Amino acid sequence: MSTTEIHPNVKRVIFTEKEIKERVSELGRQISQDYKDSKNLVLVGILKGSFIFMSDLVRSIHLPNTNVTSEFMSISSYGAETSSSGVIRIMMDLRTSIEGKDVLIIEDIVDSGLTLKHLMELLNHRNPNSLHTAVLLRKKEGLKVDVPVKYMGFDIPMVFIIGYGLDFAENYRELPYLGELKEECYKK
Ligand code: PRP
Repeated sequence: MSTTEIHPNVKRVIFTEKEIKERVSELGRQISQDYKDSKNLVLVGILKGSFIFMSDLVRSIHLPNTNVTSEFMSISSYGAETSSSGVIRIMMDLRTSIEGKDVLIIEDIVDSGLTLKHLMELLNHRNPNSLHTAVLLRKKEGLKVDVPVKYMGFDIPMVFIIGYGLDFAENYRELPYLGELKEECYKK
């Protein structure tokens, strides 16, 4: 990618389109292998951040003998705006029952891990056959709770990351790469 294509508020590109594509394809291959005997696989994208990751990941999954469905949930975290409390409010719930089905939660990023932990507890109460997670990015140093991530894209340092679905104040989700936001854009 030439520098002229990089958004002026991006300090550096962390993962290029090509790197993301390769990693997402690899995750899709792993998922296809692991769920080949599944009857029903429900992919649950958590809005908004996961929408691009989800759209690429589902197209890398090949399960001809499985009913593969795509669902979405929209959640918001109670408490402070900049850090999640882990107590989540469901803004938009699943439209179908997950009872007895294999469920894969698809998230863009795990920071403290509180959101995903709470979400897993919530969905586990609905008696799925299995419940696992696919996460594009994990800030390992940010983790406050142990949360199992079965399919992990990349571990990243504690930087402000945008693009490929991830935002700052709802902007930059459209960037095709993952980049670090310049500090002057979020620090005043
Ligand atoms: C992000 C991400 C997770 C949460 C992770 O969502 O999608 O839901 O934060 O943080 P945690 O591990 O510290 O709990 P965000 O609130 O940015 O909403 P968005 O997906 O709509 O951008």
